[in-house]
Amino acid sequence: MQIIKSVDQWINIFKDKQKESRTVGLIPTMGALHAGHISLIKRSLSENQVTAATIFINPTQFNNPDDLSNYPTTWDEDIAKLKSVGVDYLLYPKYEDLYRDAYRYKVIETEYAKDLCGATRPGHFDGVLTIVMKLINITRATNAYFGEKDWQQYHLIKGMAETFFMDTKIIPCPLIREESGLAMSSRNKLLTDEHKRIAPLFYKTISSQMDLNEMEKALSKNGFVIDYLKILDKRIFGAVFLGEVRLIDNVCI
Ligand code: PAJ
Repeated sequence: MQIIKSVDQWINIFKDKQKESRTVGLIPTMGALHAGHISLIKRSLSENQVTAATIFINPTQFNNPDDLSNYPTTWDEDIAKLKSVGVDYLLYPKYEDLYRDAYRYKVIETEYAKDLCGATRPGHFDGVLTIVMKLINITRATNAYFGEKDWQQYHLIKGMAETFFMDTKIIPCPLIREESGLAMSSRNKLLTDEHKRIAPLFYKTISSQMDLNEMEKALSKNGFVIDYLKILDKRIFGAVFLGEVRLIDNVCI
């Protein structure tokens, strides 16, 4: 695996891949990798000649500075996982190199991005869409892979790619759960032992037969602080806090 820090070097490598007509799969991540991320990578490995992952904790999508400074990093384990699964290239850029405009230019969606996670995390999806457009453009990816754990994120990115006539195909990948049912997430690493014990009740509750009111009551009773719980397009979407840690999940009704 080639590990690359410089955006210009990355651009040159992937210009060559395009000249050679090699298919490129891109998996953008913020690191602290788990089996959810690896499932996206494996899918890319099976569908492309070249697989490229990125690790960049993107500050522009964090509306809460503490959330950004507490975001988990497991660099050595991440590298070992990416190498062992067979990733060809890893980009881990610096903020100044990716945001040469100091974030004067943004990609903004004005409706769906204000709902669900966007309602309580103002500006979050502006940061997500902007960084994903940058990463797709500098990689010239044939396919880019996103998890359905972040359902709203996937749909916004897909909409962006269609809207701006981007060449890259945006591919959804199934949500991977722990055996307990808890949706895998880098932030799970931040849970206290007590909260780890409670966390699986989030999925158990939203996938139960209860109505939304009863779900809210059950979650509150078990120690969750609810950010939102909402039905949209025949899915239940939820975000909850356990202490400072925010968990999201979604299930088909
Ligand atoms: P991150 O949370 O690191 O997730 C990277 C990718 O892995 C996303 O597409 C996410 O949906 C997917 N993923 C995370 N947990 C998953 C799970 N349990 N099952 C399946 N897929 C899962 O999402 C981001 O980073 C950032 O917003 C990013 C797109 C990299 C832009 O900064």
